[in-house]
Amino acid sequence: MEYVLTATKTEARAGSYYDRIARLYDLTFKVNGYGRSLDQYFANHPLPVSRGARILDAGCGTGLLTLALLRAIRFPVSITALDLSSTSVAAARKSLYYSPGRKRDVTFTQGNLLCLPFADESLDLVVTAGALEYVPLADGLTELARVIAPGGHLLHLPVHPGLIGVFLEILFRFKSHPPKEVKDKTERHFRIVHQYRFPRREAIGWSKTAILAQKV
Ligand SMILES: C[S@@+](CC[C@H](N)C(=O)[O-])C[C@H]1O[C@@H](n2cnc3c(N)ncnc32)[C@H](O)[C@@H]1O
Repeated sequence: MEYVLTATKTEARAGSYYDRIARLYDLTFKVNGYGRSLDQYFANHPLPVSRGARILDAGCGTGLLTLALLRAIRFPVSITALDLSSTSVAAARKSLYYSPGRKRDVTFTQGNLLCLPFADESLDLVVTAGALEYVPLADGLTELARVIAPGGHLLHLPVHPGLIGVFLEILFRFKSHPPKEVKDKTERHFRIVHQYRFPRREAIGWSKTAILAQKV
């Protein structure tokens, strides 16, 4: 299997693999109830943000997590949804069409999560799901930690290795990071607040966990 390393800190491939498969990704994850599972998770684990919070969705893809953030956070915030794939960013922007009242809360941008267009310690929350699997983990976490203010949070939904994880690795050409490595490298910058296993009856529970961590 070819592992698609999408980018290094100084160089990003022109576009990404997702420029070709964004539609397949969007369809797969809409059909499998990903959005509903995220809604349930946020209902049970309210996000540690307040009005006006500065939020980044790093590797936003077609915007499924970005939209779930908007459904969960009922007050005005400032979300940047960033992805390497311009096709995915365009699809994410289009999906906001159905939430016209929240358009002002989200800015979409094409970019590399290894080289973020933000000043040090300028964000309150970074969320990232299924994107750090495309980059060296330590580099990705270091860059996300750089932009989060002390006391701010990281919500990371890594892919859990396992049978479904391997299937997804082949389908979407990434490499999941071993859970111990995720924990150890997260703790270089953050204090882990909770680690959550999604219910097995939900499709997300076959492949993903959630780690909420606070910048120390
Ligand atoms: C599995 S999808 C996840 C999308 C979205 N976070 C979600 O939960 O539905 C992975 C996304 O990460 C993006 N990606 C991969 N490497 C990236 C990088 N270095 N910088 C920004 N985005 C990247 C891909 O283009 C793709 O859209």
